[in-house]
Amino acid sequence: MSTASEPQDIDGFAWWQRGVIYQIYPRSFQDSNGDGVGDLAGITQRLDYLRWLGVDAIWLSPVYTSPMADFGYDVSDYTGIDPLFGTLADFDHLLAEVHRRGMKLIMDFVPNHTSDQHPWFLEARASIDNPKRDWYIWHDPAPNAKGEMGPPNNWLSEFGGAAWTRDDATGQYYYHAYLPQQPDLNWRNPDVRIAVHNAMRFWFARGVDGFRLDTIHHLFEDDAFRDNPPNPDFREGDSPTLTFARVHQVDLPDVQDVLAGFRRLADSYDARVLVGEAYLPLEKVMAYYGTPARPGVHLPFNFHLIGAAWKASFIADLIAQYDGLLPPGCWPNWVLGNHDRARIATRVEPANAPLAAMLLLTLRGTPTLYYGDELGLTDVKIPPERVQDPWELRVPGFGFGRDPVRTPMPWENTAAGGFTAGEPWLPLNDDLAHKNVESQRADAKSLLRFVRDMIALRRRTPALAVGGYGIIESRGEVLVYERLWGGQRLTVFLNFAGTTVYTPLAQGNVLLSTIADRTGETVSNLLCLRPHEGIVLDTPQQSESDENI
Ligand code: NOJ
Repeated sequence: MSTASEPQDIDGFAWWQRGVIYQIYPRSFQDSNGDGVGDLAGITQRLDYLRWLGVDAIWLSPVYTSPMADFGYDVSDYTGIDPLFGTLADFDHLLAEVHRRGMKLIMDFVPNHTSDQHPWFLEARASIDNPKRDWYIWHDPAPNAKGEMGPPNNWLSEFGGAAWTRDDATGQYYYHAYLPQQPDLNWRNPDVRIAVHNAMRFWFARGVDGFRLDTIHHLFEDDAFRDNPPNPDFREGDSPTLTFARVHQVDLPDVQDVLAGFRRLADSYDARVLVGEAYLPLEKVMAYYGTPARPGVHLPFNFHLIGAAWKASFIADLIAQYDGLLPPGCWPNWVLGNHDRARIATRVEPANAPLAAMLLLTLRGTPTLYYGDELGLTDVKIPPERVQDPWELRVPGFGFGRDPVRTPMPWENTAAGGFTAGEPWLPLNDDLAHKNVESQRADAKSLLRFVRDMIALRRRTPALAVGGYGIIESRGEVLVYERLWGGQRLTVFLNFAGTTVYTPLAQGNVLLSTIADRTGETVSNLLCLRPHEGIVLDTPQQSESDENI
């Protein structure tokens, strides 16, 4: 299923196609100054670990100047580094050290909204006729069904409650898809585009290798401000934010023109990448891909494994569907977790974590690995008095907020896990004794060692790094797919069952097992897979005479 326009030589693939991306949540990776919060100098100290692990690129969640209402996703200066994380000099040093190790650095960028403390918004809210007023989305109050004056329409914020906040000084409402402290920029104003492009140029010129663009499906809203219709799929127990179908709030066609502008900007530099965040159904995500006819981002995140039922047949269908929908010449990508969603080891149970890692690292397309998932970290229970995430505070009783998936990286088996000399901003995992980098590095059977071996296998095996698919199918609870490149055929077998399973029609040499004890074993026909075991087989290509038998 590889597309005709793909290069025939692995060197013809870009770094962001061949490589593995590793997401760092900067608050939680490594603290260098004892304030309990991770920082840029801390990340620099840990780069050799990432080199050892074998990842190719780092994506940093936001480190810009911010009041931290949404932990950096509320930016008050797009070209500044928040003092909590360090200085611009620390950033330049980190970038140089990343490059010195042959890796790439992708920054987060938040074009949909700023902080309410951004000078642009402070000016905008100063008066109705301020020149920056139109950089944001304002509306007069409107009457509700009872005739009372209130928000202009029924649009809800992603974090719960109305997406409109009344500004007392002028009596108008401003729109925010997220917190009231995150007013949405008005992308219909050309000056906004110029200002944001300038900020992106600032970082491109410093040498960053790309951006992960935050929440791009939210860039535009209906300019007639129509109410959203009720959501026909709303079920009891769903988040109240899903009460209405967001047809007038997300995924408007105008987004495409802005993405095209971002892409032209990125293409004016050498070898940069744009990754886009858009939580949308698969068919809609495809429209965010850049094609020669319609510039867009290189990699709109594919989040569909995050919500997937953990079943071989479901995932086989998902893989085939996703690959089949890709526009010609576009490159796939896969994600198992991030700073907003439950950790993979929690979602699928820890026993499945190695299987999930093998899945992520053997699928066709760029994998993004969330920090700590290589250790099998699970969601950490946060005592109520230590909750930090505003999402939890704003929607009491709904969900758990996102703190449990943002806890400090456990480097060693000590009280603060080697993360900080101070008090960590969030508690560490209570299974620190075996879930820490130092212990798992020393244990040849650990998940960490498996992930490292898997990345190394992927790197040295073009069929895994860039090859196309052969068969994709489920055989009972076993997911089977082939990866093809040149004369090589690899077959991946993933046993989703908690029992031993025998799979026929397997042939070849074991390159790697999730249980790390079968490399080199020869399989001819019947493959025995232990509970939750995954295997990569180097399967000899059928000769023409075999096919005729
Ligand atoms: C998506 C980010 O991943 C999330 O962490 C953030 O809260 C929202 N966008 C708002 O920027």
